[in-house]
Amino acid sequence: MLPDFYQLVRLQEVSSTSDEAKALAQDCAGEGTIVVADRQLGGRGRHGREWHSPFGNLYLSLILRPGCSASTASQLSFVSALSVGGALSVIIPSVQKVRYKWPNDVLLRGRKLSGILLESNLHDDGMVDWLVVGVGVNVQSHPSDSQVKWPATSLHAEGFKSITAHTMLREFCTAFHRRYMFWRENGFAQLREEWLASNIGLGERVEVSFPMGVVTGILSDVAMDGSIALLDDKGRYHKISSGTLRLLERLDG
Ligand code: BTN
Repeated sequence: MLPDFYQLVRLQEVSSTSDEAKALAQDCAGEGTIVVADRQLGGRGRHGREWHSPFGNLYLSLILRPGCSASTASQLSFVSALSVGGALSVIIPSVQKVRYKWPNDVLLRGRKLSGILLESNLHDDGMVDWLVVGVGVNVQSHPSDSQVKWPATSLHAEGFKSITAHTMLREFCTAFHRRYMFWRENGFAQLREEWLASNIGLGERVEVSFPMGVVTGILSDVAMDGSIALLDDKGRYHKISSGTLRLLERLDG
């Protein structure tokens, strides 16, 4: 059912598929090992946030061993987001308004449908030993607006009620495998263009909160290493590698 690249580890209930995958990676599991669970009791999002994880949605964590530096590996969150978008366009050819929000959210009609969490272990020389790409897709349900920073949605809430987590898994795996092989051979430039073509925020006034504080300004670039350049009101550029982005003038998706 999945491309040969994958070795599927299917579980019913776990704390977090990413915790399971990290333990397997530490135990020398190979690239392509993918942990999928029906539900998570301790699903984690970025910055330690909770990830809504009841039965019916897709929760997967994929082990990769890309043999590159950590900054190059950060491109894989964009590759993963594009793969969620690619899977959606196969399952729902009529789907419109899939957008990407830095660093790695997938939005449908302006609401968050999917989130991606990258976790890695580095060798002493800074090269990636393993990378776990955790992907959550809201298929049947999503958290309410009061529970999250950015409003969420699910495929069922958007009217695509026949889609299951199983279908989403199969199409994501196919889409990701194709893009990952392309990335390994050709690098990030073309994939970055694809991501930029459907992003929200570029050229807009945004606020980015990150561990050192908050910066407001115009989102002027998403660089090859996945960091953003923000031009603040005093004309200074800020390079930010990790943070949470909020549009100050909301677009309608
Ligand atoms: C985010 O948007 O904050 C990232 C969410 C990542 C959620 C997925 S669900 C599968 C994997 N297991 C986890 O505990 N988290 C990731």
